[in-house]
Amino acid sequence: MTGGMNHQNCLIRTVKPGDAEALLAISTSIISEGAYFIRVPEESEEMSPDQQREHIQKVLKNDRETMIVAEIDGEVVGSVDFRSHHLKRLAHTGSISMSVSENYRNMGIGKNLLKALLDWAEQHPHIEKVSLGVFSTNQRAISLYKRLGFIEEGRKIKEFKLDDNHYADDILMYKFVQ
Ligand SMILES: CC(C)(COP(=O)(O)OP(=O)(O)OC[C@H]1O[C@@H](n2cnc3c(N)ncnc32)[C@H](O)[C@@H]1OP(=O)(O)O)[C@@H](O)C(=O)NCCC(=O)NCCS
Repeated sequence: MTGGMNHQNCLIRTVKPGDAEALLAISTSIISEGAYFIRVPEESEEMSPDQQREHIQKVLKNDRETMIVAEIDGEVVGSVDFRSHHLKRLAHTGSISMSVSENYRNMGIGKNLLKALLDWAEQHPHIEKVSLGVFSTNQRAISLYKRLGFIEEGRKIKEFKLDDNHYADDILMYKFVQ
């Protein structure tokens, strides 16, 4: 993918090694929100900038993986990544994870990132099924995934214990892309 502007003056493009620090900053801040990912803030195992750069370089060399970022006025404000499996019987599928910085949510950036990821997957014929898991409490993410054609295939009931009295299901969703 080369990249292109959308209506919000937001550039959607493939990741580059120089994005390492910005991506780490986004993930630190989202983990500290404490609402959307499995690890709680004190369990965060963050990569160093060098490790993140190496990870990006590996992704760029691997046609089963990609990472796409959203940039506004030169600042990386969101990303989506796709990872698939090296085992033959799982290599036709893979899963995505995505995040947009808090101040930039609900502006369509997530939608543009996910559309770009699905375009990328369609252009890689060995990828047939794109999967993801989302907390049942994360209505914004669920509505985005449904709008782009993801379907719930099942859920792990009370998979996440949020506090003494509150649980979330792990909703498993998929989309066929070929
Ligand atoms: C989930 C996330 C990536 C979506 O990105 P985004 O840029 O905010 O998404 P968009 O603006 O493209 O779309 C959000 C959609 O949710 C809708 N929405 C917002 N709040 C909502 C709510 N409380 N309930 C239902 N829908 C909601 C918006 O209306 C919009 O839908 P529309 O396009 O049909 O109007 C982003 O919010 C984020 O990073 N959240 C924190 C991390 C996270 O949850 N990651 C996903 C883990 S599985």
